[in-house]
Amino acid sequence: MAYAHVETKLFTVRHVTVPVLPTGQDPLRVLHVSDLHLVPRQQRKLDWIRSLADLRPDLVVDTGDNLAHVGAVDPLLDALTPLLDTPGVFVLGSNDYWAPRPKNPARYLLPDARQHQPEPIPLPWDRLVAGFTAAGWKDLDNHRADLTLPDGRTLSFVGTDDAHLDQDDLTLAGTATPGADLHLGVTHAPYLRVLNALRADAVDLILAGHTHGGQLRLPGYGALVTNCDLDRRRASGLHGWPGARPDSFRGADSTWLHVSAGAGTSPYAPVRFACRPEATLLTLTAR
Ligand SMILES: [Fe+2]
Repeated sequence: MAYAHVETKLFTVRHVTVPVLPTGQDPLRVLHVSDLHLVPRQQRKLDWIRSLADLRPDLVVDTGDNLAHVGAVDPLLDALTPLLDTPGVFVLGSNDYWAPRPKNPARYLLPDARQHQPEPIPLPWDRLVAGFTAAGWKDLDNHRADLTLPDGRTLSFVGTDDAHLDQDDLTLAGTATPGADLHLGVTHAPYLRVLNALRADAVDLILAGHTHGGQLRLPGYGALVTNCDLDRRRASGLHGWPGARPDSFRGADSTWLHVSAGAGTSPYAPVRFACRPEATLLTLTAR
């Protein structure tokens, strides 16, 4: 358990190549950050977030659960300042809306324990959204957006609000603008209904977070849970949806799916095992 606490501070950048761009295009570097669960005192995490700008991505995708404290918005926006000059898109997760609460095991044993549960504390997600959008990042919570990169390439996006809170509703997003060089789907929690809806929208690649990669992984077995209805074998990393894609010739018509293992944990469960906190640099290349 002591090691598993230390691992929560072993931040790393995972590198993934996805052959998803139209034939003949130059590579595109996408930085996928997720599940930072920031508490203001986490200076080491803040320094690491600030260093991510050194990767010089062409695009940043933030798949939510940024906050774990009412005072985390300002330090987060400060640490992200070097990245906010880069084109970006984001969706929110449940932990952007509500502060984490300790889980009381007695709740299951004592009939009246439920009434002693602390009230949920709302987090200032609106200030986070204001900070992101002021920098030009696009809010994809049940929304669409288009971006033109400095080299003239066009990207279209569709995203959902958090399915873990049942706030996902793609019908609110309207219809897509056709003709983009790349169509990306962005969501926090990769529930099957969301992955199917994004695939039906003909996205080329889906980016999601929420799972924390299982957070505790058994070597040789992998994640125990995904905290949603996605199978545990796809708790993190690059896969195909609905079928396997990167490691076999099967699923050639599947949509690419990247699930981030995230960079944080609830402050009430500060452990990770065989599942280092991460951001991912996806290099998108021509098919
Ligand atoms: Fe999370």
